[in-house]
Amino acid sequence: MSKESTYSRRAFLKASGAFVMLASIPYSLKAMYVDVDKLTVVPKQALSITVSINKKSYSVPADTRTTLLDLLREELHLTGAKKGCDHGQCGACTVHVDGERVLSCLTLSAMIQGKEVTTIEGLADGEKLHPMQQAFIECDGFQCGYCTPGQIMSAVACVKEGHTGSVAEIKEFMSGNLCRCGAYNGIVQSIQKVANA
Ligand code: FES
Ligand code: FES
Repeated sequence: MSKESTYSRRAFLKASGAFVMLASIPYSLKAMYVDVDKLTVVPKQALSITVSINKKSYSVPADTRTTLLDLLREELHLTGAKKGCDHGQCGACTVHVDGERVLSCLTLSAMIQGKEVTTIEGLADGEKLHPMQQAFIECDGFQCGYCTPGQIMSAVACVKEGHTGSVAEIKEFMSGNLCRCGAYNGIVQSIQKVANA
């Protein structure tokens, strides 16, 4: 068989294989792709959010789909809470709502209407650091610092919740906060220091 005919045979087999694959896609799936083309863009719906953040009142218009994290960072320029994964996996965006820790990337701003939000910016008492912030410094609870605002907000909640009975318990209740630098020992020590003060 000539080289040329081998190529054309291969090309034919490839083309027919692709055709068989296309033909085997279920109709419902094909319909889904067609529907994507016909999707209309839903117009923005603004909502007026009234909320207290770090003891300061705000009334801010926000798209109903805006997360609390985006409201804080993009609208109010409170960039302490970090966007790590934006999917509830890393804890970098942790803030307090009415004293409870929440992942702000999974919280719609519409849900915080009339509530009290505390971010890392509101934790210190003026120039005086919160005991947990001080402990993170003294115990080397951070390296690059990217996860640190979320770690500290979770750590404060962890102590308040009373989950500091053992290293294992602290690790369990801090397990939603990841640290790529691996500063976990210092973080646990910081929490122990504040819990035992
Ligand atoms: S950014 Fe919210 S959990 Fe990662
Ligand atoms: S200190 Fe770098 S990610 Fe935690």
